[in-house]
Amino acid sequence: MATRALFPTLLYNAALQKQGARAFNARLLREIKQLGHDDVAGRKWSLRNYPGGFTSYASVNRLHTVSPTFAALEKKLLPHVRRFCRELQLDLVQRKLVMTDCWANIMPAGVVHGMHLHTLSTISGTYYVRVPPHSSGLKFEDPRLDRMMAAPPRLANSRLENRPWVLVPANAGHLILFESWLRHEVPTNQSRTERVSISFNFNWF
Ligand code: NI
Repeated sequence: MATRALFPTLLYNAALQKQGARAFNARLLREIKQLGHDDVAGRKWSLRNYPGGFTSYASVNRLHTVSPTFAALEKKLLPHVRRFCRELQLDLVQRKLVMTDCWANIMPAGVVHGMHLHTLSTISGTYYVRVPPHSSGLKFEDPRLDRMMAAPPRLANSRLENRPWVLVPANAGHLILFESWLRHEVPTNQSRTERVSISFNFNWF
């Protein structure tokens, strides 16, 4: 081939575990529901910053350090993060990647989470606990988009890697990993019941 791909943007999407996802998700869901009741600071913060939904992003954001269930999630996530880092060929010799943040999100119908990236972090991701029918996926943006001033649009049927935005469907029991600088959003949720997810950051410094 005369043409090759340079500077790819890698995305990791896999099932967290081979079996037992249903029982594990039920445990996580119970704790997240309880947190939604108990975390008054989080509910207050969500009113302004996550209207219609609940996130513990600014209140209880180190869940892996306070809950054995979330500590178990961290343990299950680690081999996936390592595999993704190997694919990215990150030089992590004498640099240890650790989970720095882990928070829960409850998204009822009509809630949206606008375009953003995760600062002060290396690898970020989401694990899906409950994904009812018609739930939003995770929408990623081409990181070079702000440079494409006079570039023609891509063909409607262009290959996924050539599109300016890609929507990755959410699946209960699955995780998505990406480099923290990659912008993403959760479009308006259209599920009748709540979509529940856990977001996290891994950092090396
Ligand atoms: Ni995010």
